[in-house]
Amino acid sequence: MTEYGSFPGARPRRLRTTPAMRRMVAETRLHPADLILPAFVREGIGEPVEIGSMPGVVQHTRDTLKKAAVEALEAGVSGIMLFGVPDDAKKDALGTAGTDPDGILQVALRDVRAEVGDDLIVMSDLCLDEFTDHGHCGVLDAEGRVDNDATLERYAEMAQVQADAGAHVVGPSGMMDGQVGVIRDALDTIGKEDVSILAYTAKYSSAFYGPFREAVGSSLTGDRKTYQQDPANVRESLRELALDLEEGADMVMVKPAGPYLDILAKVAEAVDVPVAAYQISGEYAMVEAAAQRGWIERDRAILETLLGIKRAGANMILTYWATEVARGL
Ligand code: PBG
Repeated sequence: MTEYGSFPGARPRRLRTTPAMRRMVAETRLHPADLILPAFVREGIGEPVEIGSMPGVVQHTRDTLKKAAVEALEAGVSGIMLFGVPDDAKKDALGTAGTDPDGILQVALRDVRAEVGDDLIVMSDLCLDEFTDHGHCGVLDAEGRVDNDATLERYAEMAQVQADAGAHVVGPSGMMDGQVGVIRDALDTIGKEDVSILAYTAKYSSAFYGPFREAVGSSLTGDRKTYQQDPANVRESLRELALDLEEGADMVMVKPAGPYLDILAKVAEAVDVPVAAYQISGEYAMVEAAAQRGWIERDRAILETLLGIKRAGANMILTYWATEVARGL
């Protein structure tokens, strides 16, 4: 008998010997239903427009968005999160295009719902930044600061037009205080009690949103540090979490995902509602860029990032790779 220390029975490598053995003992598995596809739809384009910093991701036309939704559904993805990109000429200080029933996001919600019905969960980003000419997530006061309560009024209206357009789920991502409660009231007032709220509960002010700003043609010049969270903080997320749940959040989200797995794990442990994580544009771009240079194995790296996010406690993962990965699982 071989001598290998004082615990003769303990040889963890036995359970790593073959692919079948490793498969059997795997503690975490990815399933297509874990995945949600974020997608961009841009007003007034005849062909999809590539996003340079997100190779493989495009700004969709209304038509190609419908196709992307059907492909996601066929691959087994659970949901699609829509972001609207209006004509630059339609951006204004209040983000009016975001509450126009004929605004690009509302039109796209109706398009996609007509295509997928209730088979794919149709979600909408509920935020003003794509629609404001200053690029902030809310409206500004006389001093140019983001005005929390004036913004809440805009979010209430936005929730109603998105629900009317067919959103199953709205995703408030602006990090205004009280947004979940105001949106819940606004939805209930118009009889949309069944529309759920996926609250961006812990949303950090992150450099990794960079490529997204290109994806939505953002007009932002400053930063979002007065409303998004400081990457240094943990307890603050638990406070945000408690408030969102009190206000009626049906599901909560942590964003970004990869650099915030500790937050995700704590949130997942603390709640009894579904937990989502958003693997954001910069996380996507890093892997694609390194893979393009041949520095990492793309497919393995992608699965590893997603597995890490699931292992940390996410029930749902928003990822730009959703359809591709779901097909391969
Ligand atoms: C706000 C919003 C942002 C993202 C999702 N919703 C941008 C921001 O907060 O600056 C980022 C998503 C990504 O980077 O993939 N509407």
